[in-house]
Amino acid sequence: MSVKYDLKKSKDAIGVLYPRIVDKDDREIDGFHRVDADEDWPTRQLDHIDTDVKYWTARITANTHRRGVSKKERKESVIELAKALLAEGYEPSLVNPICVLTTFSPQYIGNLLEDNPEFLKHPGAGGPKGVKPGLTSEQTPKRKTKHDTSDKEKLDNLYKKVQKSAFNGQKPTSQSSIEKAEKLGLDVTHYTEQLENIRQVLNDSVGRQYADVKDDLNDAYKRSTGMKKVLTAQISAEETRITKLKESLRNEVAEEVTQEVVEMTENERLEKLLEEIPDEFSVLRDWVREGFWSIDQIKSLLNNPAKKKQLINILEKAPKKLLEGVKTRKTSLVYANTVVNRLEKHDSPPPLPDGVFDVIYADPPWKYDLPLRGSPNSHYDIMSNEDIYNLNVEGVSIQDKITEDSILFLWATNPKLTEALSVVKKWGFDYKTNLVWVKDKIGTGYYVRGQHELLLISTKGKIPPPIEKNRFSSVLTAPRKKHSAKPEEVYEIIEVMYPNRRYLELFARNQRENWTSWGLEA
Ligand SMILES: C[S@@+](CC[C@H](N)C(=O)[O-])C[C@H]1O[C@@H](n2cnc3c(N)ncnc32)[C@H](O)[C@@H]1O
Repeated sequence: MSVKYDLKKSKDAIGVLYPRIVDKDDREIDGFHRVDADEDWPTRQLDHIDTDVKYWTARITANTHRRGVSKKERKESVIELAKALLAEGYEPSLVNPICVLTTFSPQYIGNLLEDNPEFLKHPGAGGPKGVKPGLTSEQTPKRKTKHDTSDKEKLDNLYKKVQKSAFNGQKPTSQSSIEKAEKLGLDVTHYTEQLENIRQVLNDSVGRQYADVKDDLNDAYKRSTGMKKVLTAQISAEETRITKLKESLRNEVAEEVTQEVVEMTENERLEKLLEEIPDEFSVLRDWVREGFWSIDQIKSLLNNPAKKKQLINILEKAPKKLLEGVKTRKTSLVYANTVVNRLEKHDSPPPLPDGVFDVIYADPPWKYDLPLRGSPNSHYDIMSNEDIYNLNVEGVSIQDKITEDSILFLWATNPKLTEALSVVKKWGFDYKTNLVWVKDKIGTGYYVRGQHELLLISTKGKIPPPIEKNRFSSVLTAPRKKHSAKPEEVYEIIEVMYPNRRYLELFARNQRENWTSWGLEA
């Protein structure tokens, strides 16, 4: 069977692993067929192989053990070895010496030398193999040997054996080696060709005689095993090469970096690091240079999509003063972002509602002079005191909306108590009393930390107090909710105190049945 593979191509890859081997006198032992493909194929001379016995032993080892050769060729080599042994003074039987030199089994050597009794005869030896002492070969009872099995059976067994070791179903078991080698960019043509040869022989074996197929199959199989070893060696050589390459590259880079770093001054190092901040955020480099922010803080900001968005919003729209606050870290990003969004909205209030009302409930957006944590303008628009006193939308004043006889429930934060009393006056009411809302949680404050708010109750004209059973305690205990949100209970209290009235809520953020709600966020 001819096995096609391109030795020219494989020279570079496996020439070093598989050189042509010759003995001391240049007699070829192994790999000589490669020279046919490339006359420059590397040669290695084994000087210690300097006798016929050594030469034939080496040839048998190289050519009949490692590669599959026909029984005929193997027999010829063993006969040559037997001759060399005789020439060196060995006496028959030569089975054992050959067995030791070649590691073939004694039975197998006996079998090969069956036709050459001169190598077997020896005083005391049992004569040719297969003949019982004292009996002729005809008289020796025939044992049923493997060779009596039918060709078909033999073929089947061989087929199974090779298939089992070379294939997994139709897939070569060494498919993973091929994939690995291909990944490393190695040429696997020969190996895949060898596997293809096996498949071919197996396919062609149907209908052929065992004897004809056996050698071809063994030959193809052994070649593939040999190629597999080469492939494995190539893979590990390539992997080692790549690992070394990577390591030396790493070392080179590390060396360069260390050198650079050593040569850089502090400032240069900072500037180098600042390059990691993208150009569109170059203003942030100043924030780091001026020492307010660390480079890591800026990087983590930019790596967080939500924070990055806020930052962009602030950088694009914040007034100078606010931006300065963010830069110097006096103002938080979240706060600055909310303020920017509010400023941008610039909402104008809706017109005051139609009709007139006799119960007014109001919670004005007071402006505070001192910045407090969580101060109102981070949550909603605020109004100046004057604008609250003279509440007027598009020429319609708050006084126009209030009946002659009415009542005002006005929320006053503690610092804004005086202003709240002014609102009472300006809107035409007289202060009567108040209800205190005691919160479950403590808040902020300059002298004391606020935990309560006052609801001022004031009247205008003739409006009677509620009947006695509808009078509530002046202390309302209720939990604090979202910023500035007032307790629901207050609506209920007002509705019970003054049932079936025309209710108006000013600066509202909710709608409520039977109420008219007005405000930017109503
Ligand atoms: C203190 S909050 C009212 C909170 C409300 N009592 C609650 O429980 O949710 C003041 C409200 O007045 C609104 N506001 C600010 N400026 C305004 C204006 N010029 N006209 C109308 N409403 C305004 C704010 O948007 C905010 O919703």
